[in-house]
Amino acid sequence: MRLPGLIDPHVHVREPGQTHKEDWDSATQAALAGGVTTVLAMPNTKPPIFDAATLDLALAAARTKARCDYAQYLGAGPANAAEVARLAPRAAGLKMYLDSTFGELRLDEMTLWLEHFRLWRGRGPIVVHAESRSMAAALACAQMFDRPVHIAHVSLREEILLIKEAKARGVKVTCEVTPHHLFLTKEDIPPSPPSPLPQGEGGGGEGRFEVRPRLASPADVQALWQNLDVIDCFATDHAPHTLAEKDGETPPPGFPGLETMLPLFLTAIGEGRLTINHLIQKSVVNPRKIFHLPEQPETWVEVDENARWEIRAADLRSRCGWTPFEGRQVRGRVTRVVLRGREAFREGLVLAGPGYGRNVRE
Ligand code: DOR
Ligand code: ZN
Repeated sequence: MRLPGLIDPHVHVREPGQTHKEDWDSATQAALAGGVTTVLAMPNTKPPIFDAATLDLALAAARTKARCDYAQYLGAGPANAAEVARLAPRAAGLKMYLDSTFGELRLDEMTLWLEHFRLWRGRGPIVVHAESRSMAAALACAQMFDRPVHIAHVSLREEILLIKEAKARGVKVTCEVTPHHLFLTKEDIPPSPPSPLPQGEGGGGEGRFEVRPRLASPADVQALWQNLDVIDCFATDHAPHTLAEKDGETPPPGFPGLETMLPLFLTAIGEGRLTINHLIQKSVVNPRKIFHLPEQPETWVEVDENARWEIRAADLRSRCGWTPFEGRQVRGRVTRVVLRGREAFREGLVLAGPGYGRNVRE
């Protein structure tokens, strides 16, 4: 079966600054292996991407290393609303962190949000990490300023129901859900081992399952599945941290996801929980529309929808070396990816070279 190249609007590439976790090369290899041909890269790097100099830094690395197409987000900081507004044409969108997250970009003070809503006029929307009641506040801003806002990684029943109401009332809101918030619940979190173990021998306890937003209750997950029509996009929130970090003293939040998203969705399609049309709308058509991304001519993904296999971190390309879906049986495998007329992935091998990826905002 042939699918269009998927667009993942939420990827933590980790370069600049944390290339031991991932970089533009390994992240885009993982993308291609997962059938993703465009990634939108988050700005919570080290340093964060929040002005012209840091944007240049990220894009210089991407230009030489990316193997699939991409764009880079800018981060909303306490004093950069005018500068990011000026840089908007070069960016995927503006990311605002309003809640607990990884990295330095967090706007705790509500007055700081207003300048960004007032000034941002990008081709991409303002993407907010806002959970529960702060999400309601972000929706209020979208309504007051009549600006499009995209809610990242919706995980709770109350959130999807609020978005549904806001949409019905004409608020310019779109949203995304991650595979881990659809295929895992907090009941999948194994208890931590009783005594501290050496790094890397934590045995996959609670630390590994740290993620923001947290894994939710089965009732929350069920509400997401019941409101698929309210979900505009699927996004991995691919957030790699190494196994040593995840099993260490202070586990950082985040899961890798680029290589497991499509097999998980193909499995759900095989089980009749989702349709191919849902997948294409939420992973191609809607993200292209919401982020104003160009068509990719002569680009497609070939999948063997009947191949059955087991997800194992050892077989994945991400540098982080683990997956929360270890051992899961899935149906559907990416066999070939053609990106802009060239074979980019075939039978487990990434064939697109570093630098083949294009910045879709150039
Ligand atoms: O789990 C998360 N990981 N949530 C975030 O908000 C940030 C992300 C990361 O960068 O690791
Ligand atoms: Zn994220």
